Amino acid sequence: MMTTFLHLTDLHISAPDPVDAALHSDTTATLLTVRGMIAGMATQPAFILVSGDLTNHGDTASYQTLRGLMADAPMPVVYALGNHDTRAGFRAGMLDGADMGDAPHDHETVIAGVHVITLDTSRADKIGGELDDAQFAFLEAALANHPDLPKVLMFHHAPALDMDPDWEWESLSFAATARLAQIVRGHAIAGIFCGHIHMDRFTQWHGIPLIVGMGQHAALDPLFAGQGIRMVQGTSFSVCVLRDSGLTVTCVPLPATRAETGRHTLADLRAYEAARAAAE
Ligand SMILES: [Fe+2]
Repeated sequence: MMTTFLHLTDLHISAPDPVDAALHSDTTATLLTVRGMIAGMATQPAFILVSGDLTNHGDTASYQTLRGLMADAPMPVVYALGNHDTRAGFRAGMLDGADMGDAPHDHETVIAGVHVITLDTSRADKIGGELDDAQFAFLEAALANHPDLPKVLMFHHAPALDMDPDWEWESLSFAATARLAQIVRGHAIAGIFCGHIHMDRFTQWHGIPLIVGMGQHAALDPLFAGQGIRMVQGTSFSVCVLRDSGLTVTCVPLPATRAETGRHTLADLRAYEAARAAAE
C-alpha cells in the first residue's frame, strides 16, 4: 500500500474578529495559504488530519468560519478537539447541532485503507489532556475493529514522555499516559498524531511513531524548554506517507521569521488554567 495524507494541527481560527489580541498571527490567512499549497500538490492526499485547537476560543462563529474555509476541500478532513476548543461550539458550528451534548467527541473512520481512531483529550478545566474510562473502552473496541488495516491514532495532547511528579500541562495526564501505553501494546499502530505544544517533535513511544506538529498558529521555541514558554513566529504542516514498510512524515515549513511574539511562565499558565476552571 501507499497512502498519502496530511497532518495539520492547532489552526486556532478566530472569527469574526481578525485582530484577536490573543491570536499572535492571522490564522485564517495561514489556513488559506496552506489550502493553496495543498491544491498544488501533484499527489493529492487521501485525507487530512487536524489534531485539535481548531479555534482559539471555542465559539460557534469561529467553527462556522473554519467550516467555510474547508468546505471545498476535495478530500475528507478528520478533526480532533483541543484545549482551546469547546464541544458545544464544535457541534453547533461544524455539525449543525447534531450529536449535541457534552460527551467527548471520539470517533473512528476508514479512509483509503487506513483506520483512523480519534480521541477527545480536551477538558474544559485543564490545559493538559485527559481520557476517561469510557474513552479507553471506546479505544479498546476500536483497536479490535478492521484487524487487517493499518491504524492511525489522533488526539490533541501527546502522551507524557517523562513521568516526573510535575504538572502535565503539555501532555496527557500521567495516569492516562500509563493506561494508554498498556492498551496500545501489541497493536500494529502506524502512528499517533498530536498537537498542543506547537513544535515539530518526533518520538518513538513504546515502539510507535509519535508525531507532534507545529501547526498553523505560532511556534514554541524548543530551546526555551524548562523556562516556561517562548512563542515565536512560525508554522508548518506535514505530508505523511503510509507504506507497507511504515510511516514517513515530511514537514513543510512555511516562511518564518522566528521573531518572538510572547513569553509565559508556568505560573502564567497555572493562572490561566485556574481562570478557565472558575469560568466553567
Ligand atoms: Fe494550540
